[in-house]
This record gives sequence, structure tokens and C-alpha cells, in this order.
Amino acid sequence: MSPMHHAHPGVLLSLSLVLAGGCALPALGPSTPLASQAPTTSDASVLGVPFAEPAPIAAQRQGRTVHVSLTARVAQVDLGNGQRAEMLTYNGQYPGPTLDVREGDRLVVNFTNELTEPTSLHWHGVHVPADQDDATHTVPAGGTRTYEFDIPGGSAGTYWYHPHLHGTVAPQVAKGLLGALRVRPEVDPLPASFGDSVAILSDLRLDSAGRALGPIDSERANGFEGDRVLVNGQRSPMLTMRPGEVRRLRLVNASASRYFRLATPGQPLTLVATDGGYIERPTPLNELLLVPGERAEVLLKAPASGMLTLQSLEYNRGTMPSGTPAPAASHSATSNSHSGPGHFRVLQMSQDGHGQMGMMSPMPMMSPMMGGHGMGTGMAGLLKVMVQGESVTAPAVPDNLRPIARLASAGASTRTLTFSEIHERGAFFINDQKFNLGRVDVKAKLGTTEVWSVSNKGHMDHPFHLHGFGFQVLDRNGVAEPFVSWKDTVNIKAGETVRFAVKYSDFPGTRVFHCHILDHEDLGMMGVMVVEP
Ligand code: C2O
Ligand code: CU
Ligand code: CU
Repeated sequence: MSPMHHAHPGVLLSLSLVLAGGCALPALGPSTPLASQAPTTSDASVLGVPFAEPAPIAAQRQGRTVHVSLTARVAQVDLGNGQRAEMLTYNGQYPGPTLDVREGDRLVVNFTNELTEPTSLHWHGVHVPADQDDATHTVPAGGTRTYEFDIPGGSAGTYWYHPHLHGTVAPQVAKGLLGALRVRPEVDPLPASFGDSVAILSDLRLDSAGRALGPIDSERANGFEGDRVLVNGQRSPMLTMRPGEVRRLRLVNASASRYFRLATPGQPLTLVATDGGYIERPTPLNELLLVPGERAEVLLKAPASGMLTLQSLEYNRGTMPSGTPAPAASHSATSNSHSGPGHFRVLQMSQDGHGQMGMMSPMPMMSPMMGGHGMGTGMAGLLKVMVQGESVTAPAVPDNLRPIARLASAGASTRTLTFSEIHERGAFFINDQKFNLGRVDVKAKLGTTEVWSVSNKGHMDHPFHLHGFGFQVLDRNGVAEPFVSWKDTVNIKAGETVRFAVKYSDFPGTRVFHCHILDHEDLGMMGVMVVEP
């Protein structure tokens, strides 16, 4: 497995497009030492920082109650390979520490805001009382707040926490405020030998002094996309597995606005869980679209030899060249915009560009251009699996993970929502209106089940997210969902209508729903729901 230094045609094409199109980004300076160095012969020294999970939080357990402390503060973070970055962090870590709880636990979080700006904490996907879920509450600079809630039975799965102060959500997440919350069941249907690893996908942009940057105004309509893509804060980390070994990864898309279309070429991924936990049966997938806010748990199986690479493939979500007025009905024409923030997509590994199945990719990261603008994504792979050692016979993946009761949606009343936008004005709407906390957009009754029919009339994809209640997607453009699962975030393609069923089982109060391209949420693509007792 020697590194291939030959130039890849697709890579050259992409680079020339970027050169021709110019670059809207600040150049990266000392924070990208790789950019100016000659390629080395040791891949491991360049790309192969070992896969590492975010350190778990120090927790104090008293019976079923778990006490943790989270502090938002600026800190210097080690990104590996000698790179340091000044970021907004939870407890000085990027990603923030993983909160580990079990179904039925009570979680108590003492939060301190040591930032010089206000923030808040949201428990994405967790079914918590409305007043513990900061969509409407703010913790001022220097302020504190305690959150306290029960982890519901049946909710074992992968969740995450991030700030939710309207207007600053995308910048605060982009600069580092994100972390995973892992809920374990009493009895796990998967064998312990599969492991249980959090893999948080995020992206980052640093200035020449190594400080994390948020979105610039002109890119907010498309949504922030950093110039490096990271797994648990590391670029292309290397996971070592034995031949035949199976590993479980809890994938979290914690980027502000970036979509990940994931694949391990040469081998299907096995999906075992979505946002709200296990699906009914393990399902092989050739690729997995993970939109901002979404989670998926997958099993990776190591081949008999060689390597496996988790890649991020190109995906057209309808971004536009920035500053260019959006022609009407133009989304099909914008699939490969070459200027403005949208151009980053063309740097990603194209579908035919990953022909070296299971092999180390070529070395585009070594190019000076790639150093400055390098995706650190498809080219090198988001995550590499090095297969070595003695082969193992992994225990079988169970046929059944858990039963999921279908929400009784027949006869339920339907609620209709429309997402729309005036892209060139950075204006994003739900039902033709911008977010207004003082206006109730959806009034629902506790204990009822409803069907939401959400249509995307815009030219970009928008990931819909509802706070507080999981839902079951019924169909997309009338095509029934292939299997039932618990979701809280679902992509709605341009022109698509997605219907889902939701039951307001308990916890009356005020919630929000919004597009999880966090820039769009900041720009007003959010609504207010009140569940009345
Ligand atoms: Cu991930 Cu309203 O949040
Ligand atoms: Cu949320
Ligand atoms: Cu959106």
C-alpha cells in the first residue's frame, strides 16, 4: 500500500476551477503547515492521526442522577499534527466532552457561560421538558444555568448539544460549540465487541492566527462551510481494525451547514440507528446522506486486508454562487457553481474519483492549493480504516434490533408547512414568514398525533428539525419511506414534500422548528410551536 503521488485528473480539474474562480476565503497561514511541505513518504505521519473519541465528561453519579458541569469558554485546541486553534469550546474541548447516560437516568447539567457573548444550550433530539430546552432562553456572558431532565425509556441513541441563541447559532457552532450525548439502553442488542464510538463530523475555518471563524455575511445564504472537514476534531484520522472485525460508529453531523454524503467504497455501510435510536433491522446502505443535525449509527466491517475509507462524496444541495441573483427555477443549473462558497463542493471527491476502492487516496492534500482550501474530505477520506493484525470472526449482527410501534396517523389532522426563500436577499421563510418569537405558528394539543406535510418550494435543500418530539417519516413526494425510524431532523430536497407523523406525548410548552442549515435558522427560517395542555 504505497502512497500514490500521481495527479488525479478529477483533482486537477477541480483545482483549476478554483484557480479560475478565485477564492472568497481568507488564506490559511501558520495553521496549515502541511500546505507548504513536500509530501512525506509516511502517510501515517501526515494523515494518520489515530482515531480518537472526544473525552467523556467527568460525571458524578448518585443512583440514577448524573451530575455534570459544562463551561463555554475560549480555549486553545490541539487539532493534531501540531496544529492549534483558538476556538469556542465546552470545557476546553473540541468537540465538547461526550455526555454518557442511560435510559431512565436524570441528567443535571451545571452550565457556566465564560464567553464574552450570550449563548444557550439545546439538547438536540432529546425529549426534554420545554423549559429545559433553550430555544427561547439566553445565558448572558458570565451567567450560569442548571438544566435538569430525565432521559426517557426507549430513547437509547445518539444526540448532541449545541447553542441555540437565534442569530448566532451558526457562528457559535462553527467556532466549536458542539458535543455528543450518548444514551445507552439497559440491554444493548449489539454485541459489546463492536465497540461504541462517537464520530462527530464537523468543519472548521481558521484565520491566519489560527482562530476559528464563523460565516461571513455573503455566504450565509448558502450556509457556512469550513475549509477543513474533521472527525472528532481530527483530519482524516486512522482507525485500526483487525480483518473481519466489526465496529459501531455513532455519526453526528454537527457542522453548521455542511451536508455529508457518506460511503465506504467497496463495502456497504450497515445502518442500525437513526436520530432517535435503533431501527428495527440492520439495513445495508451504499451511501448515507447525513444532513446538519442528523445522526446515524453504522457498522463498519473490516475487509480481509487493505484499507477502508469513509468518504464524503459530492452532493448538490442547490447552493448558489454568492452575490449572484438567483434566476427563477434555477436549481438544476447551479449544480456546479464555481465561484463563491458553493465552489467547495467541486473540490470534493467526485463519484468516479474514488475508483481506488479500499486504497489510500492520492495525495491532493499535499498541494499548496489544497492546503489552503483543502477539503480534507473525500480526497483523503473522512476516516481511514487500517486493517492489520490477526483476523477475527465477529459475532453476527442480530437480525432484529427492536420493534418500533407505528404512530397511529390514520385520521390524524394534517398540518401544512412551506419552506421558501429569496436566496439572493438571504431571506428564508416558513409559510412566507420570518421567525418571530412573539408569534405562535403552530398550536397543538397535548396527547394528539398529527401529520405534518412540509413542502420545500425553494431551490435549495433544507433540513427540517423539530424540537422536543421525535417523528416518523411517512413518505417523500408520496413515496413511502422504506422503513420506519425515529427522526427529529429530515432533509427536504428542493421541490419535495415530506410527510411525517408526530405525537405530542407529554411536556406542554413552547418549542421551535427550523431549518438545520444553521445559517438559515439564524436568518429566520424558524417557527414557534406551542403544545397546549
Ligand atoms: Cu440542533 Cu434547534 O437544533
Ligand atoms: Cu434541536
Ligand atoms: Cu435551509
